[in-house]
Amino acid sequence: MKSQDLVAQAILARARAYAPYSGFKVGAALLGKSGAVYLGCNIENAAYSSTNCAERTAIFKAISEGERDFIAMAIVADTDQGCSPCGVCRQVLVEFFDDTVEIHLANLNGVIQSRTISQLLPGAFRPGDVQRNDRREL
Ligand code: THU
Repeated sequence: MKSQDLVAQAILARARAYAPYSGFKVGAALLGKSGAVYLGCNIENAAYSSTNCAERTAIFKAISEGERDFIAMAIVADTDQGCSPCGVCRQVLVEFFDDTVEIHLANLNGVIQSRTISQLLPGAFRPGDVQRNDRREL
């Protein structure tokens, strides 16, 4: 799928954003290896920290539907450059993305900047870094 086509789907998802507090709408579209596309939007909450970003909405939908392997994600907002994912979303994406996954940062004016998760989150704490500890001493 072309990056422009995935961005077009992210723009459709953005229209469903629930963002009454910030007024900042974000859309995401995540292409799985199965061929399915998972859409996400930001979902805000009166208790602000309970907000879920568009990227996490999309990837949580995918994982909960059984998809674990991905080809690309598009993220779009009304920004000057491509919409840059927040730190929390980068950490969630690195759990499931390797550097074959293209992450298209887009705006509403046709800007598309393609990145890998290593570029967005260098030196990340990754799944393989978790050490299982024997906690008998506690
Ligand atoms: N937001 C996203 O959904 N994704 C991003 O990449 C940046 C931020 C949302 C969270 C909040 O609803 C609003 O944008 C303003 O931060």
